[in-house]
Amino acid sequence: MRIFLTVLAALAIALVSFWAAIAVLFRKEIKATFERDPAATSFLEVLLTYSGLHAIISYRIAHAMRKTGILFLPRWLSQVTKFFTGIEIHPGAEIGNGIFIDHGMGVVIGETTVIGDNVTLYQGVTLGGTGKEKGKRHPTLGSNIVVGTGAKVLGNITIGDNSYIGANAVVIKDVPPNSTVVGVPGRITRQDGKKIDFDLDHIHIVDPIMQNIDELEKRIAELEKRVGK
Ligand SMILES: CC(C)(COP(=O)(O)OP(=O)(O)OC[C@H]1O[C@@H](n2cnc3c(N)ncnc32)[C@H](O)[C@@H]1OP(=O)(O)O)[C@@H](O)C(=O)NCCC(=O)NCCS
Repeated sequence: MRIFLTVLAALAIALVSFWAAIAVLFRKEIKATFERDPAATSFLEVLLTYSGLHAIISYRIAHAMRKTGILFLPRWLSQVTKFFTGIEIHPGAEIGNGIFIDHGMGVVIGETTVIGDNVTLYQGVTLGGTGKEKGKRHPTLGSNIVVGTGAKVLGNITIGDNSYIGANAVVIKDVPPNSTVVGVPGRITRQDGKKIDFDLDHIHIVDPIMQNIDELEKRIAELEKRVGK
């Protein structure tokens, strides 16, 4: 009985020490969670139930291992973490401090992604490649960026500091700092606090789907004329 209690006490001390160390090492990420998620109610809740935080803790370990030249173990850890959190962060990615991944499920961060400080990613975000590039093929995000739910940022592009990527946007071109990007393909709707007027924007105004529909309507009218309708 005494041995059992001693083992139990030792385990409890180890567990408390582990989470205390995590709380100190990841204080910026924990602070970011409180600042950016109104649903976060207590320190213990954030520490024990936020899968975004768990994914980052695991990523930091995997990234440190990879830096020593070990390749297989970090990849394995990243896949195990994906199984539990739904978040896949490649150990090769470079991620700054104060990142907050909210909800998490479906987030993918590619191998050559670079992320600055204080970035927020919502569920379903992909920071991926286009499939056409080699070497540095994932995006570089500056600091203080929010990437909305379901957004895809693809290719070796740069997203400037203090930018917002709208929910479900697909961004395939560089975005200057202080911009808001929405839509597919992503287009800038706000820059340096000013709204961008699309009617005056002759680069972004072309909608390929509308162009196709116009083209089809013309062909139908032509055919109708030919058959004498
Ligand atoms: C893009 C976003 C940051 C808003 O930025 P904003 O500069 O305040 O944008 P506004 O609300 O002024 O909207 C600007 C225009 O973009 C449109 N818009 C806004 N968000 C959009 C989106 N995700 N996709 C497409 N269009 C969008 C608006 O309808 C508006 O169009 P209009 O000018 O024709 O009326 C915000 O809408 C967004 O998508 N945030 C992501 C939040 C998220 O993912 N939350 C998940 C919580 S679980």
